[in-house]
Amino acid sequence: MLDHVQPFYDALADFYHLIFDDWDQAIARQGRVIDALLRTRCGAGPLQVLDCACGIGTQAIGLAALGHHVTGSDLSPAAVERARREVLKRGLEAEFHVSDMTRLAEVPSDRFDAVIAFDNALPHLSADQLLLAAQAFRRVLRAGGWFIAGIRNYDELIRSRPTVMGPSFIGTPGARRIVHQVWDWTGTETYDVHLYISLEQQDAWKSLHFVSKYRCLLRAEIDAALRSAGFAEIEWVMPEGSGSYQPLVTARAL
Ligand SMILES: C[S@@+](CC[C@H](N)C(=O)[O-])C[C@H]1O[C@@H](n2cnc3c(N)ncnc32)[C@H](O)[C@@H]1O
Repeated sequence: MLDHVQPFYDALADFYHLIFDDWDQAIARQGRVIDALLRTRCGAGPLQVLDCACGIGTQAIGLAALGHHVTGSDLSPAAVERARREVLKRGLEAEFHVSDMTRLAEVPSDRFDAVIAFDNALPHLSADQLLLAAQAFRRVLRAGGWFIAGIRNYDELIRSRPTVMGPSFIGTPGARRIVHQVWDWTGTETYDVHLYISLEQQDAWKSLHFVSKYRCLLRAEIDAALRSAGFAEIEWVMPEGSGSYQPLVTARAL
């Protein structure tokens, strides 16, 4: 599935912040949620954290701002380049690498306290790639370190098979934007995602359209992949219990 992923996120890199009501608020909110999970599992830190699907830096920036030592990696060179710029712009520090999470070959350390992958990165992977990724997460973590990831609630979505997500109406009159997704189901568990960002300009609207593929990755498959790669204490924290907007899995490296 990776063939479609890098072009999608490269093309989206300059616009990704537009899918949030307020990206800086999202950075701060997600940083607090992940920091709270890390504290209960790894201690107060500062911790060595690898964000292996950092994108343009939503979680990496939030955690760096809270004092953690953050390494970000991602398949998309354009997203990584933007994450670097955004960290510098905020006077923060974090290092970044272009790296496929199924290998993490470019990531120099194997002593991370935590590896994170947020906002539905794992469902871009095929079943075989997920197993490789779980092994890579285990390899770069110290014994006793934690893996934490957030994905959409596919255990429910696979039954309801929605075709539209959103729209979200964002911004103020004259500079509004409308963000929505169309899900074109290509099989019982797979869909093409069409992401539209429509921007109000002076006298007209301009629409940006990005296309990628996802599969409905169920929680049991993630549990099995993590277990087979040497993780234990695998637990799902639902949004009501975490403050996150997606179910989160946490697992301890043996
Ligand atoms: C929905 S975005 C989330 C990005 C970031 N975590 C955020 O919330 O802003 C998913 C990210 O996963 C990355 N990704 C997908 N497959 C990957 C892989 N095999 N290796 C590394 N990154 C991958 C994409 O490039 C993309 O940046």
